[in-house]
Amino acid sequence: MPLLTRRNLLKASAVAGAYGIGMGAAGKFGLAGSEPQPQVLKAVKTEASLTDAGSTKDIMTWGDQGMPPVLRMQRGEPFAARLTNSLDEPTTIHWHGLRIDNKMDGVPFMTQPYVYTGDSFDYAFTPPDAGTFWYHPHCNTLTQMGHGMTGIIVVEDPADPVFDAEIVLNLRDWRLGGDGQFIAPFRPRDAAKTGTYGTVRTANWQREPQYDALAGGLIRLRIAITDVTRIFSLKMEGAAATVIAIDGNPVPKRFPLELLQVGPGQRLDLAVRMPDSEGAVATLEDIRGTTPKTIASLRAVGKTLKRDALDLGRLAANPVRQADLSSAERIPLVLSATAESAPADSICGTLGYSFWAINKVPWPGDTPDPTAPLAELKLGKSYIFQLENVTPHLHPIHLHGMSLTVISSSTREVRPLVSDTYLIQPDEKVQLAFVADNPGDWLLHCHIIEHQKTGMTSYVRVT
Ligand code: C2O
Ligand code: CU
Repeated sequence: MPLLTRRNLLKASAVAGAYGIGMGAAGKFGLAGSEPQPQVLKAVKTEASLTDAGSTKDIMTWGDQGMPPVLRMQRGEPFAARLTNSLDEPTTIHWHGLRIDNKMDGVPFMTQPYVYTGDSFDYAFTPPDAGTFWYHPHCNTLTQMGHGMTGIIVVEDPADPVFDAEIVLNLRDWRLGGDGQFIAPFRPRDAAKTGTYGTVRTANWQREPQYDALAGGLIRLRIAITDVTRIFSLKMEGAAATVIAIDGNPVPKRFPLELLQVGPGQRLDLAVRMPDSEGAVATLEDIRGTTPKTIASLRAVGKTLKRDALDLGRLAANPVRQADLSSAERIPLVLSATAESAPADSICGTLGYSFWAINKVPWPGDTPDPTAPLAELKLGKSYIFQLENVTPHLHPIHLHGMSLTVISSSTREVRPLVSDTYLIQPDEKVQLAFVADNPGDWLLHCHIIEHQKTGMTSYVRVT
């Protein structure tokens, strides 16, 4: 396996295949000011080797390389992608965490028509923020995401500190039977609780992959939880790991990764200081549940570089406007269970149940008959979501199009993180502030897809 060195990193797309990182041909822009070449994202059905039981059929992805390509974009530079649909059902692409034009947000009915089989849709936008983000469909999502359509976006900033290497980890599970083929995507009784877990865990579509990295080097580990259900409790064994960004935004103050809960939709950027001795292995683990699970590991190779994490420069903050807390209007937002009104059939998939609600309204999203918006917001004004979880389960609540700042919680110390997804605990009340600076209808939903699709979805309107 070739080394991931700083020099090789520049040629990352050439070596990525060896790592299964699957970086695509993104980032090949023309000269400044000219239109970027669109990255073609062809939605296809294919097969992939995920277990020892042989090839898994009915995999869904974009492109022909297995895992969806890691899309590389530059902060402030135009990006374009053409989605072409070769699935036998409609689809769209949502760019999770990117604060872009509403028309490019990829939500069927709300921001664009869904893209039928054989059709295409052109996405074009300029990412304002640098960091780790991801992309996925917003139509029949439990199936399309569950079968593979979750890809990583890396938005680079030329001012980013230089690491000795970078490794991108797309963490997700698959619901497969012993024969390696897909089984029922969910169980209703689980959808009404934590959601239904997958049976095979992977990182970059591999089970417990191991990557080589230079001994004593500093590695930027970009982790995205793209699973439809699983919440991870991440820990690094055998190497010091420092949290440098969460959900695409630099943390106000770096801290060692001791144990961090990260939910579906969330991202974590770590600076990992590789061990000094050749052959030493650092392991990323999920310690939720009874026995720790290995997610992926890094093996030190070569003579130590003796780097010091303290020498790493800062990540530039993203240009997210700070809410004016004194004038901010408060919006109550209560997450609850419900048994009312089973959703009607929708072309973008219904699970046929209603288990959850936001402010007592259950809505599965992606339907032609949206409920009224949760709130109508004035462009440029500050708001605070008073998010309250009266259920006994955790929910990663995601807002499209704008970033939230965590202000305070009723149950724990919180960092003033800027984020698009907040993992709320049972019985927690949290204040999330933001400036309504992006016009349009923006979804707000739980990113445990069974919760989203059985009622825990709403939207705000900014005009
Ligand atoms: Cu990851 Cu509605 O989004
Ligand atoms: Cu939820």
